[in-house]
Amino acid sequence: MFKKLLLLLVLIIFFLSGCAQTTPSTEVTPPPQDNPPQENGDKDYPLPPKDYVDNFLLKIGEATRETISYKDIASVAVLVNKQNELPADYVPPDLVYVNIPFTFNEKVEKRMMRKEAAEKLEELVAAAKEENIILYGVSGYRSYQTQKALFAYFTQRDGSEEKANMISARPGESEHQAGLAMDVSSQSVNFGLVENFGDTKEYAWLKDHAHKYGFIIRYPKGKEHITGYSYEPWHIRYVGVDLATKLYEEDLTYEEYLFFKI
Ligand code: DAL
Ligand code: ZN
Repeated sequence: MFKKLLLLLVLIIFFLSGCAQTTPSTEVTPPPQDNPPQENGDKDYPLPPKDYVDNFLLKIGEATRETISYKDIASVAVLVNKQNELPADYVPPDLVYVNIPFTFNEKVEKRMMRKEAAEKLEELVAAAKEENIILYGVSGYRSYQTQKALFAYFTQRDGSEEKANMISARPGESEHQAGLAMDVSSQSVNFGLVENFGDTKEYAWLKDHAHKYGFIIRYPKGKEHITGYSYEPWHIRYVGVDLATKLYEEDLTYEEYLFFKI
């Protein structure tokens, strides 16, 4: 009798723990993520290079390529950067939960993206998996309020807004608020948002395949004076397949593509 009861108890515990998992049981269960995300650990960030401001006569309306809808907040090609912000009350109208493995289990806003971006990211992650490249989502959509809190956190941590702004967007200036960006990572860097994600095979795959699914590596190494942000190998931005392919093939940031005289 006692043995039967014990068996029943073990079975109940087994089923309950299985149902509580939102990460597929075949995946490695990652450690809980810091909140807010690490965004590059404790590195001492460089300040914006002097020529950054000179390069940036780059306000909306001054683009050399006027044909695409970078001004249109409803477009997946919308330009969001330090010169072009989103309204504080902007919430994308078509946010959905992205069905990929995440580094955390909670069903919260950072699992979301705009529908088209979410579907293409699911395709990207599945294609990567076919080649034994396992990517995890870390942080997707962030509301204006969340970005405000994050920026305040980094400002306090790093000692000034100027320093914080090399790794964290001011509220209104983040592509995460547009629902078009996702920070991704891998087990090989302990699921962190760290620069050496850029040395992994997961990043190598991402760099050469992301455009096929409409994503670009938004803040590449060596273009800090153009994007205004430190190298972020983990931050991918959905712009649509055609545009992403052009940017990939011409090896340009979105700012260079839109504004630099060619
Ligand atoms: N870390 C990027 C720049 C953001 O905060 O949107
Ligand atoms: Zn990001």
